[in-house]
Amino acid sequence: MVYYYLNKKTFQSSLWNWPILGMSPGLLVRIQRIHESAEVLENSNMTFPFKGPWFSGSDILVTVDPANIHHIMSSNFSNYIKGEDFQEIFGFFGDGIINSDAERASKLKKCYHALLHHQGFQRLSMSATTSKLRDVLLPLFNHFAEEGTVVDLQDVFRRFTFDTTLVTITGSDPRTLSIEMREDEFVKAFDTVGEAIVYRHLTPRFFWKVQKWIGFGPEKKMVEADAIIDRVCSKYISAKRDEITQHDDVLTFFIKLDTAKYELLSPIDDKFLRDVFVGFIVAGRDTMASSLSWFFWLLSENPQVTTIIREEINKNTGFDLEYLDKLVYLHATLYEAMRLYPPAQFQRKTSVKPDVLPSGHKVAANSTVMFFLYAMGRMKSIWGHDALEFKPERWVSETGRLRHEPSYKFFSFNAGPRTCPGKHTAMTDMKIIVVQLLLELSNGPPRAHLGLTI
Ligand code: HEM
Repeated sequence: MVYYYLNKKTFQSSLWNWPILGMSPGLLVRIQRIHESAEVLENSNMTFPFKGPWFSGSDILVTVDPANIHHIMSSNFSNYIKGEDFQEIFGFFGDGIINSDAERASKLKKCYHALLHHQGFQRLSMSATTSKLRDVLLPLFNHFAEEGTVVDLQDVFRRFTFDTTLVTITGSDPRTLSIEMREDEFVKAFDTVGEAIVYRHLTPRFFWKVQKWIGFGPEKKMVEADAIIDRVCSKYISAKRDEITQHDDVLTFFIKLDTAKYELLSPIDDKFLRDVFVGFIVAGRDTMASSLSWFFWLLSENPQVTTIIREEINKNTGFDLEYLDKLVYLHATLYEAMRLYPPAQFQRKTSVKPDVLPSGHKVAANSTVMFFLYAMGRMKSIWGHDALEFKPERWVSETGRLRHEPSYKFFSFNAGPRTCPGKHTAMTDMKIIVVQLLLELSNGPPRAHLGLTI
């Protein structure tokens, strides 16, 4: 017997709550048109209780309400953890920062903070970016232009950020970005793991666990990829341990960690360093590559924005960071691209104790709350009637300064104590890349005063 019932809210938002199957059929039908969920959320006052299949334990409260996000990520932070479900799905990250909660996460966060604000590390990161630009990316683009080759820009940026991230972690460059665009087993292994993690999100837990147990499908590929990643990481780690020099890369920093200051962390353990290694690649690589790809796509669709950025680049003077700080419109355009196309589209948290959100929704203990960042950037109730328009101007104040938007509204870099510690590094690197690429594309003189000496 086909029978269904609707409650008023689900009817309004057109996701039907079927007996046994819950709202899963509606979600599967819409999975290719995920942007429609902005409408669903707009119609439900920004918070939507999603009902998964009966007994599957996959009921989720989806919210994009900034007040709820502020509550969960800041005011009542201690009540919301990554949780066992998350740690199981993302088991590949081991005990790294992205997978950790409580005391361990706090210690790791302090380490990352110290590392990312260390001048030596910042210099290394900037020089990795500038030399890859000068020696590889610009010559490569010129070569492609001369040959009339069509390139996949996202592939180029993913290779670029993979190489620069590896330099900051290990001090050596794997050179995956080159004319040959060769396939690299290490890169491929990360991609395979990423695909398997997406698969785990879309498949009932029981099902992927059985697949893992019998060694089948994406789970089998994940085990193989994991082994490649472990092998390559361990090669880099043992080479670094043998090398007694002063470097500012991530591995050197963690090997020399003061364990009296950061108890709970164990730099003598290779597994600890492996988890730091993979966490760093995942945090810094695809996030930047995705932001840059969408940014340049948006510029290609909006030539007037490119003109304003070019004028800003040419009008300003100064050295390095001081110069980059003056590029307010460029900063605004990068934020606008990340508002519409956030690199991490979902975030999830698990409640420890029961709670009531500012929106009035009740959260039971040990239940999942999901934030849908992609929909968040498209909500008229958050960004106004022009939410769907690409308008960098919304980020510029009347006095020409960057307009501050609270992180629980512009959530692309996370909010509260778990805010992305690499935000400043990422913005600096992306600005350098954009400035040099736009100058190169217009055959303008290189920005020697950026210290790039191209
Ligand atoms: C456009 C670029 C970037 C974006 C949009 C971004 C965004 C984010 C987000 C959303 C998180 C929270 C993830 C979670 O808790 O599940 C995060 C965490 C983190 N990010 Fe970034 N990130 C970017 C670049 C970077 C870079 C370049 C680095 C390192 C140099 C970095 C280092 C980290 C670290 C270490 C964490 C873990 C922090 C914690 O859990 O307390 N990120 N980032």
